[in-house]
Amino acid sequence: MAELTTLEEKLAEVLGLAQAAQKATEKVEGLVDDESIAANLRQMREEAEETERRCTEVAEERDGKKTAILEKAQETKGEASEMMETYLGDDADGLDGFEFMTMAEAGEVGHWAVLSKLNEQAGEEKIAELTEWALPIQERHFSETKECALRLAGEKDPYEES
Ligand SMILES: [Fe+2]
Repeated sequence: MAELTTLEEKLAEVLGLAQAAQKATEKVEGLVDDESIAANLRQMREEAEETERRCTEVAEERDGKKTAILEKAQETKGEASEMMETYLGDDADGLDGFEFMTMAEAGEVGHWAVLSKLNEQAGEEKIAELTEWALPIQERHFSETKECALRLAGEKDPYEES
């Protein structure tokens, strides 16, 4: 297996997180009744699919590293999915779902910022293009998920037995 550079490892991680985000949005969509919130989740899923596509394209251009990057991404996806299974048990509701989403999206924002920072030194054009496209989207995902979480929290009866 080819050794990955730090830059390639971080590329693999954002790819894996984008794959995990597709599963997460699907799972959380099943926990909410609100149609506008569901639509929001669907849009996030489409953007996660597009992110996966773009990351894979960049990985494919790295000679001999594609397989190793995809494998590392798979590992990250697995870890993130495990976290989701742990956090969202059988009794999880929409608010729990969105609390998980805020963690997942904050994680994506952080990872994309790290990749972007690493590339300040590396100066790779394809990575720069990718991070400039993805970072604002992930920041929007985080603020949208937080907004949805607060909306659902606002509709909760705080004295209801949970
Ligand atoms: Fe996201």
